Amino acid sequence: MNFQLSEEHEMIRQAARDFAQTELLPGVIERDDKQEFPAEQVKKLGELGFLGLMVDPKYGGAGMDSIAYVLAMEEISKVDASTSVVMSVNNSLVCWGLETYGTEEQKQKYLVPLASGQVHGAFCLSEPEAGSDATSQRTTAIDMGDHYLLNGTKNWITNGNSASTYIVMAQTDVEKGHKGINAFIVTKDMPGFQVGKKEDKMGIRGSDTHSIMFTDVKVPKENRIGEDGFGFKFAMKTLAGGRIGIAAQALGIASGAFERAVAYSKERKAFGTEIKNHQAIAFKLADMATDVETARLLCLKAAWLKDNNLKHDSASSMAKLFASEAAMRISTEAVQVHGGYGYVKEYHVERLMRDAKITQIYEGTSEIQRVVIARDVIRD
Ligand code: CAA
Repeated sequence: MNFQLSEEHEMIRQAARDFAQTELLPGVIERDDKQEFPAEQVKKLGELGFLGLMVDPKYGGAGMDSIAYVLAMEEISKVDASTSVVMSVNNSLVCWGLETYGTEEQKQKYLVPLASGQVHGAFCLSEPEAGSDATSQRTTAIDMGDHYLLNGTKNWITNGNSASTYIVMAQTDVEKGHKGINAFIVTKDMPGFQVGKKEDKMGIRGSDTHSIMFTDVKVPKENRIGEDGFGFKFAMKTLAGGRIGIAAQALGIASGAFERAVAYSKERKAFGTEIKNHQAIAFKLADMATDVETARLLCLKAAWLKDNNLKHDSASSMAKLFASEAAMRISTEAVQVHGGYGYVKEYHVERLMRDAKITQIYEGTSEIQRVVIARDVIRD
């Protein structure tokens, strides 16, 4: 077993770190405050290849592996989780599924612009009454011969307004239950497509989360992904990889909060010495360091399994479960280490604490990750 990163992996980590420090850090507090989408920053991320990091260069991607993706996600998320979620959704939930299951025509038409960062995408699974219970899709896509007629509402859609291309799950045959679900490529310019209300969120406030409404949207037959009835499995397989991205986002939030707590403990004095010299603080830092390291190892292990085409559903759920809970613990403790300063925006840790919370919720709550892991553990 070799824990040493390759030169290429070190380079991608450094490139992501530099980008985060120079392009993201300067306006991150203001964007969070104003709920401003990081449009310019996302454009630059695309130009640098971070939006199609794992896609084959022949489809406009950077041709890297999931390990590189975890390393880059950690660095970007340390500074700005509102930007890293755009990167994660585009890479994992949009590009991966298109590259793996799309036709050559779909790849040329939709994947190339998405992977090369000309546009970015969104993944529409959740509905007002189908969140964790994802098989209960109410959005319908009726087969009309040469097209499907799409009707329904999706909720909590990351990149809801800023995206151009949407992967939409819909029920084509209610009688068949989850086997009657299909996945479609839908574009914003299709008549009947409407972006709904923007959510006013606790965290990741720079990312745009919307509901999306479809009213008699005509989706061409050739925009269905995979065989008829493949939509639910498509969504589950896609989410198994997506959860590695969100685990890495949580890892980044955790390590960002940890690094800020360490730095502050070396500056702030109390009772005649820097607070790092008080065991009350040093023990917190030790616990945080252990959590960060464990989360990182779980993320890299899940990424390694995926890169080697090995089963990774349970490993990615473990990484997401642990990293997101660690992000919540560590960011809360980082606020505590900062005392009153931790409670104000200038010191960043209160934002990291608010951002951490969503990693326990989206792409499957912590409870859903436990369902996935438990099923694997008790399977005969
Ligand atoms: N790979 C392949 N197939 C899979 C699979 C996987 N990882 N997981 C399940 N399936 C298959 C099952 O084998 C089964 O198929 P068969 O009937 O042919 O055997 C089918 O899918 C149904 O599976 P289950 O019976 O296990 O379905 P369930 O109703 O019990 O649900 C669940 C399972 C794990 C709870 C699932 O519904 C789930 O993951 N829910 C959470 C959904 C979620 O993560 N939503 C997040 C929205 S996306 C988001 O947040 C994006 C964003 O904007 C950031």
